[in-house]
Amino acid sequence: MSETSVTLTIDGQKVEASADSSIIQAYAHAGGALTANVGCMGQGVCGSCRCMIREEGSSEVRTALACETKVAQGMQVGFIDYFIPEHVHYYDLNEIGDGWNWLEDTERAFPEAAHCRHCGGCNRACPKELEVENGVAQVVAGDFSSAAATFDQCVMCNLCTLACPENIRPNHLGLYARRMKAARTLRPVDLMRRLQEIDSGRMTVNLNGSEA
Ligand code: SF4
Ligand code: SF4
Ligand code: FES
Repeated sequence: MSETSVTLTIDGQKVEASADSSIIQAYAHAGGALTANVGCMGQGVCGSCRCMIREEGSSEVRTALACETKVAQGMQVGFIDYFIPEHVHYYDLNEIGDGWNWLEDTERAFPEAAHCRHCGGCNRACPKELEVENGVAQVVAGDFSSAAATFDQCVMCNLCTLACPENIRPNHLGLYARRMKAARTLRPVDLMRRLQEIDSGRMTVNLNGSEA
């Protein structure tokens, strides 16, 4: 091992890497085919490279994004596959509508959210250091604007869902809040104009995809 390289273990495989590489770069350079746990390859926006990390000499295990975390000597890394929990939340924003019953609608779609036990597990799990627990409380309170801001940088890595003992799926609750905010408050001018052109017949849409 040279002075500028480190040895670490990734998914049980010993890997030697330049000390300034990210975990995902180290894994790629080790020669294995990257077929999972990678998407944006270092932009930190896709959440695919979720992993658990234990530093040498430490008993603590933490979660991180492998493309945003530098390697270290003796580090142990285990990637976490994406998973879909048994209970998936379904809702239709059109059915929820523009009414005054959003608290009931939210409770119907996400009944677990009100059972947050404030354990902070989601906050600790979040590699983007978002105030996830607070965001859950904001959605439960019906404050979708604040919740949308809280989850604005969420990359849907799913680590908060994995951490939550109440099966709340905070990231999906956050996505719901962002959708609610966008659907109820944002009306992009260009989109409104284009829809008007289509509805009035001034513009035709060829759903077959070929040139008109
Ligand atoms: S809120 Fe959850 S899904 Fe979003 S970045 Fe944080 S841990 Fe990942
Ligand atoms: S992990 Fe779940 S129960 Fe714990 S604070 Fe976060 S949302 Fe609440
Ligand atoms: S590969 Fe996309 S966030 Fe790491």
